[in-house]
Parts: sequence; C-alpha cells; structure tokens
Amino acid sequence: MRQLFELAAQTLTQDAGPSPLALRVIRHLRCDLTEVVLVSQRFATWEHVNLQRGVDAYLAAHSPGADWFGPPGAAHQPHQDMLQLLSMPVHVGMLRGGPRGPSPAGAVVRGGAVRGDLGVGVASYGTAAIGPAENTEVVALGLVTSAAPDGNPVVIGLREFGPQCLLEILAADRSTATATRDEIERLMRANDVFRGQVLSFTASEHHGNSLVTFLPRPAVAARDVVLPDGMLEHVERHIIGIADLSAELLGAGQHLKRGLLLHGPPGTGKTHTVRYLTGRLTGSTVILLTGRSIQFIDQAAALARRLQPSMVVLEDVDLVAVDRDFTPNGNPLLFSLLDAMDGIGADADVTFVLTTNRADILETALADRPGRVDLAVEIPRPDARCRERLLRVYSRDLAADADLGEVVAGTEGVTASFIKEMIRRVVLVSLRAGERPPVLRGPHFAEVLGEMNGEHQALTRSLLGAGTDSAEPARRGPGGPPVPARLRHFR
Ligand SMILES: Nc1ncnc2c1ncn2[C@@H]1O[C@H](COP(=O)(O)OP(=O)(O)OP(=O)(O)O)[C@@H](O)[C@H]1O
Ligand SMILES: [Mg+2]
Repeated sequence: MRQLFELAAQTLTQDAGPSPLALRVIRHLRCDLTEVVLVSQRFATWEHVNLQRGVDAYLAAHSPGADWFGPPGAAHQPHQDMLQLLSMPVHVGMLRGGPRGPSPAGAVVRGGAVRGDLGVGVASYGTAAIGPAENTEVVALGLVTSAAPDGNPVVIGLREFGPQCLLEILAADRSTATATRDEIERLMRANDVFRGQVLSFTASEHHGNSLVTFLPRPAVAARDVVLPDGMLEHVERHIIGIADLSAELLGAGQHLKRGLLLHGPPGTGKTHTVRYLTGRLTGSTVILLTGRSIQFIDQAAALARRLQPSMVVLEDVDLVAVDRDFTPNGNPLLFSLLDAMDGIGADADVTFVLTTNRADILETALADRPGRVDLAVEIPRPDARCRERLLRVYSRDLAADADLGEVVAGTEGVTASFIKEMIRRVVLVSLRAGERPPVLRGPHFAEVLGEMNGEHQALTRSLLGAGTDSAEPARRGPGGPPVPARLRHFR
C-alpha cells in the first residue's frame, strides 16, 4: 500500500515530461511527441526474419552503424504501439527497470539501461532460422534512428506481438514514414530468405499459429526411384520440363501453372517421387504441407506466388481434405485448397503436387472443378521387373548369395517400401548369424519373408503397405492381407 501511495503521489506531483526514450526519438525527429506520425505494417511471425533482413538492408543503405535501443527493463506492454510506449511516464520504466545504483560509466545496469543515457535500454532479441541449420538474431523489441529515402529523419521500430511482428515507422510526417516503410518492404522481398529453399509449414504448439521451417533439399538419384518404365520421365517432363521452357511458353501465350496428382497404395513411392522432384528443382522454392498443415494453404500459396518458380506439395490430402474443422467458413479444406490453386494466376510458375492413397475422395471435387490437376499418375505396386530393380537398388552395396529371381517371384503384391524393409531385415538375420560383412542369402530371405507374412505380422505387414487391395484378392486369408502364393514355398 505504501508503494502504491508513493507511486500515486509521484504521479500526481511529477511533471511527467517525455521519458528519456521519447526524448531520444523526438530529438532525432526534430518535432514534438504529439506531432509524431506512426505508420505500421503487420506480418506473420514467420516473416520476422525477412522483416529483419529488410530493415538491415535499409539501415545499411541509409544509416550504417546505427544502434538499436529500447525501453528500459521490462517496461513494455506488448499491446502498446511505439507511440504509446514513448508517451509512457518516466517512472513506470524506472520502477519496472529496478533500482539503479551507481555503476561504472557505460555499464549496463539492471533493466538494461545504460548510465549516461539513463532511461533508455537496449533492444531485446530473439532468434529465427535462415536455413536448415542456421539461425540469426532478430529484434524482438527495439528502435533505431535512420533517415527516410528523402533524407528526413525517421525512427524504425520492430516488435513481436503474439503471432505477429510489426514494423513501425515514426516520422514528423506521413509521407516520410510511408516511403520508408515501402522501401523496407521492397528490400524485404529482394532479400527474401525463403526464396529457393525447401520449406514446410507447421502449426506452432505455443501460439497455434503457423511456423515455417527449413528442410534440407533431398538428393535422390533417378535410378533410385523405381517406377514403371517411362513414368518418372513423364512426371519430370510435366514439372521440370515446363519450368525449363517457362519464358518460351509464356511468350506463346500458354499458361505455366500446373497440377500433378500422385496416387496409389501406401509405400509405393509417392513421397519418394516428390523428394526426387524437389532435389531436381534446384533454385525453385518448394513448400511442403502435410496433413493438418494443409490448413495453411492460403499462406503457402501466397508464398509460392511470391517466390516463384515454386512447387507446393500437399501430402496425403485425403487425410484432411474433407475435414471442415480447420477452415474459417466451415467448408471442407479441399475447397480452400482448390480455391488457393485457382487463386494463383495461370501465368505463375507454380506447380501443385497432391499425393494421396485415396484418389476416390478427391475424384468428385477435382472432376467438378477441372483444370486444377492436369496430370494424374497412379503409382502401382511394383511388378516383377520393378521388384527386381528395387532389390538391386536396396542391395546395391551388399554381398548376395541368393536367387533374386525367386525373391522377385515370392514377393508378388508387395510394395516398394516392403522390399526395402525386407532387405534391412535380411541384413539383420545375416548379422545375427554372425556374418561379417552381412550376406543376403536365400535362407535369410525365406526366414524374413516367412516372418513378414506370418499371421502375427498382419498388422506390421499392412502398415508397411503389403496390399490389402492386391491384384489377386482370391488369395486373401480370412480378414488378413493377401499372402502371395509362392511365398510359403520359397526356400
Ligand atoms: N518406387 C520406389 N522406388 C524406390 N524406393 C521406394 C519406392 N517407393 C517407396 N520406396 C521406399 O520406401 C519408402 C517409403 O515410400 P514413400 O514414402 O515414398 O511411400 P508413399 O507412396 O508416399 O506412401 P504413403 O501413401 O504412405 O505416403 C521411401 O522412402 C523409399 O525408400
Ligand atoms: Mg507419402
């Protein structure tokens, strides 16, 4: 109570002139606090890193070496804009900033204020990613003095506020502030850290807002993608071939935007193919949305348009496509997705790739709104030739002493990922048998195939994608997955 009364008395008796922070700003702007104009622009938090880069580029050109400063201590209320912050009476900052005892000149005292410039603190910083394994510092709350493009003084403020970050420009007149903001936005786009990167949108657990994360660009060789003859080339021609001819196509009045649907059973290589394409599209921005992050389709589409040439990958769309929970208007997500695909101009060099193992769910929606997907490719379970190629791919660096022809014959109806897992287990069996280095032997294959197809493995087997809708349904056991006929006899 005593403190409260003291504070009240102080407030009433004090001629609460401008705080040191406000003084620093108005001295630079050469006008009164009441005349200061604030122009602000909001961005999603994941744009903070670009905002910082834009401001940094601006400062480098207009006030190199300028120092960031901020309110002392924790005086800042996040809902306040910079003007409110500057108008705050001095004692609030002083109280929250804590006691200020004598300290060596220039030393940072508690609350972040610096002696000699009492009442002005340092900026506070956070970190943001600029690549799959690199971070940078971003100003979470701070101010810096600079000059507008026309040379007039401005103060640039940055702050994070909930799921947003704000750019705030203080100046003595609006046009000066606006011109500065526009130039910073231009530099933001010119220095966009997302351009040419592989990105993924995820929902932040803390704010419930979107986050953008950087992923390393995968390197998958064409020979490691085992698809029926000509399929990969066809897909590649559609995606990359058009990108290579974009200028000529546009010149001939043809559209660039394209959509690819990859469908087929789990584990047949849809994601694998996407990874291959991502690796091939160096220089393009790739944005991945999986499962529930498809709710960020609008932001992703806007980003794709901004950073073209780009590819937006919507993985496993069936999982959420008909979900009404994640859209503001309660429409199925699939509609938002199709709208977003529509919203991108036909001349944009943007590719949409949708993957699903339930093409039937998408069929009606896509058929009702033609032109979104101009190539649909079904990736089947590997035939004998593909299974042989898969065996060779996944046993490339391993010693083998087995009749691979028999393995091929004994694995009819399984998926590519099944073959990959089978080789891994054969290696394990060999290692357990004490073989160094491991050898892929016929009996090992027999053991593993028996194990992978045993009744008790039914769940694992269906998870690994061994067909539940096999080409040979007659062989299906009661309620279980199909058992390739020759498998049991395989030795
Ligand atoms: N066609 C293929 N050629 C070579 N390897 C493959 C192929 N298909 C799958 N694989 C291997 O199996 C793994 C799993 O396959 P992938 O994730 O591509 O399946 P998917 O079709 O996307 O399945 P889902 O529908 O469950 O998403 C791949 O990482 C890859 O190692
Ligand atoms: Mg997949």
